Amino acid sequence: MERIKEAIEKARAGEQPPRTPRKSFATPSAPAVPVVARHDPASRSSPPDASLDIRYTHTRVVHPDAACLEEHRIIAHQKNHPNSWAFDTLRTQVLQRMDEHGWRVLAVTSPTLDSGKTVVATNLAISIAQQTQRTALLMDFDLRRPSVATVLGLNPDVSLNDVLQRGANVADAMVNPGFERLVVLPTMRPVDRPAELLASPMVAGLIADLRDRYAERVLVVDLPPVLAADDVLSVLPQVDCVLLVVGSGASSEKEIEEAQRRLSRASVVGVVLNKDPSAMPNAYY
Ligand SMILES: Nc1ncnc2c1ncn2[C@@H]1O[C@H](COP(=O)(O)OP(=O)(O)OP(=O)(O)O)[C@@H](O)[C@H]1O
Ligand SMILES: [Mg+2]
Repeated sequence: MERIKEAIEKARAGEQPPRTPRKSFATPSAPAVPVVARHDPASRSSPPDASLDIRYTHTRVVHPDAACLEEHRIIAHQKNHPNSWAFDTLRTQVLQRMDEHGWRVLAVTSPTLDSGKTVVATNLAISIAQQTQRTALLMDFDLRRPSVATVLGLNPDVSLNDVLQRGANVADAMVNPGFERLVVLPTMRPVDRPAELLASPMVAGLIADLRDRYAERVLVVDLPPVLAADDVLSVLPQVDCVLLVVGSGASSEKEIEEAQRRLSRASVVGVVLNKDPSAMPNAYY
């Protein structure tokens, strides 16, 4: 708890975003708590080198609807947006820690509902994909309240539901949402028995395969809240590290404490304090 408290205090003391009257968006602050090593860095790391020239010959490309993205606070692609710097800073901090340990699978969770996990995971994945030597894969493994497709305005015929429930080919479920080097695996509907599914060898194999196929790929996995059920604990062995999003006012101190206890065996790469009103310098926000 102390580490999270310290992280939140550091976030509050951090840099303030510029003042611009745009859609209400409490800028997430991204302090990092100390990293706990879990994997042998040499086993997975491979230093990125030349820029990647990705051609989406198979993956469907869906051109993004700017109004839909803005409505759902997906802004990391807009370099002139007053808050996109926050996601770039978060990206740099998270990737530095991941690279130090050779980690490539980042899970995004929170203690409780509505903390901003999906907004943070999606913006972070977009920001990671803007680095020309990386690719990002955003997976919606919130099998209870999936919403990555909604925030990106996607409505694919084949999704992660079909991969998990009827053995569809994962390549058929991948969508490029109009941003270079970013691929999304959306989930369109809640799934029965999500914790059991997330603990299954099928999901372990899927994540391992998606991670190992391309050395420069970073997987960002959107998850449900830690305290909602045992979904997060079920999938934890398959991810390298965790980013904890704490929504200001969304979780009590006790809930944050309990979330940290449940994540005690995970490598928590950082804590994002999201929706913090003290980070909103403009009365308009
Ligand atoms: N920094 C922010 N400032 C203002 N509103 C935000 C911010 N981040 C997220 N929101 C809003 O809060 C709501 C919840 O966000 P989001 O869906 O990302 O949360 P979540 O933790 O993924 O929720 P769930 O637990 O349902 O998966 C959305 O309406 C989103 O637009
Ligand atoms: Mg969500």
